[in-house]
Amino acid sequence: MSNLSADYEIRRFQAAATDDPAYAESVAWMRAVAFGIHDARRSDERVDKSIELQRTDGRVLTGVYQVGTVAGHSLGADVPVATFGTMTKTLNIGFGRLLDTRLVTAVTVRTSHRRRGLLRRMMGEALAREEGLAMAALTASEASIYGRFGFGVATSEQGREDGHHGGFPAQPHPGGQRRGGRPQSAAGPGSGGLRPPAPQHARIHRPARVLPAVRLGIRQPRRGRRPEGQGGVALRAGGDVDGYVSYRFAGWSSTPYTMEVVDLVAATGAAYLELWQYLAAIDLVDRITWEEAPVDDTLRWALEDARCVEASEARDMLWLRILDVKRALEARHYPADGRLVLNVADSLGLTGGTFTVDAEGGGAVVTSGGGGAPDLELDVAALSAIYLGGVSPVTLAASGRILEHTPGAAFRAARMFAVERPPHCLTHF
Ligand SMILES: CC(C)(COP(=O)(O)OP(=O)(O)OC[C@H]1O[C@@H](n2cnc3c(N)ncnc32)[C@H](O)[C@@H]1OP(=O)(O)O)[C@@H](O)C(=O)NCCC(=O)NCCS
Repeated sequence: MSNLSADYEIRRFQAAATDDPAYAESVAWMRAVAFGIHDARRSDERVDKSIELQRTDGRVLTGVYQVGTVAGHSLGADVPVATFGTMTKTLNIGFGRLLDTRLVTAVTVRTSHRRRGLLRRMMGEALAREEGLAMAALTASEASIYGRFGFGVATSEQGREDGHHGGFPAQPHPGGQRRGGRPQSAAGPGSGGLRPPAPQHARIHRPARVLPAVRLGIRQPRRGRRPEGQGGVALRAGGDVDGYVSYRFAGWSSTPYTMEVVDLVAATGAAYLELWQYLAAIDLVDRITWEEAPVDDTLRWALEDARCVEASEARDMLWLRILDVKRALEARHYPADGRLVLNVADSLGLTGGTFTVDAEGGGAVVTSGGGGAPDLELDVAALSAIYLGGVSPVTLAASGRILEHTPGAAFRAARMFAVERPPHCLTHF
């Protein structure tokens, strides 16, 4: 059994600039991430670019380093055996409210150092350090890893194929004006073109790596690779962008000829439909695919022939972890008044206990302890899952993830936690 304190040293730092003597440490960290996710050895140029993005996002990089002699055949002691990244962005929690949230990313543990408790230690320390933040979030490569740390699935997504465009009813974008063409011309500096939509339009204020500007093809394509996006269009209503889509052609060898949606964000239902009308009108294309489509999709209802849309199985997307129950619940808007006494279990001991939620007029006062017998008993992962309103407490009660002590309390919670629009996280980070 490994002694973590004796065998490893944990270091936290921010990505350094290229002319900083500490730059080599950032390069080694980035190479460890690539190694951990089985990415091919990255070029120096790509590593430099990745580090620049880490700096833009203000990410804190954690590395676990071997102490003492490193086996001769192994990577050097300067390359961490485990990596973990964090950054703070805003999360749209419905009704236009934003919550500062700690995003967890770049989680890797080298194969030869797995199952020794390194992830548990990095996660425990990272979550415990988040004083002042009420929420953490991540996206997961495997669904079995993060529930034990209190993360629950708050949004899902699915792949979708639109086979023969289904016939759109005409719904012009109210007051709208389209800007289209090659993405560079639409988004270039000084063009007055695309800007990231206001944060409330996406579930998470996007990290630099996936800013629309990058996905719209501003970044120079690497040799031999297609650019991230080949075409794009934005909808403007007045001075605001209220929707955009970027897409790329899958090539003349695709069967049928296919256009792939790279990124699609719409602030309103009308903007969403107009973007699809635009895509459906592209000549020479028989199929449109989108890997990150919402599960609850208005498009099906807008088509005359909904069967032309084929969707893959829904998969988990955004995992949330409430770090402070009182602050997280008081940050929310509640469309229905009501009182709930929640008994929340937290195996990491960060924020468990009994909480009384008194919602009235949209806001809520949450008091710890007291309040009598709980209406609902659940762990922090289940509470995090229902937090955005995309997962029903009634469903979780039926599946045994929530114990309903007061009959009807899960349905009351469903009404209180409802949101105006189903959550859809478009940002993989
Ligand atoms: C997943 C990964 C980070 C786990 O790291 P690790 O240091 O081996 O994990 P730990 O030893 O700290 O284990 C923590 C707990 O998670 C469990 N666990 C670890 N990996 C798991 C997996 N892939 N599936 C299910 N459970 C897992 C362990 O059994 C342990 O459980 P316990 O503490 O409840 O007994 C590591 O296997 C890895 O780097 N995988 C490849 C990259 C990856 O998938 N990263 C995740 C990106 S989202």
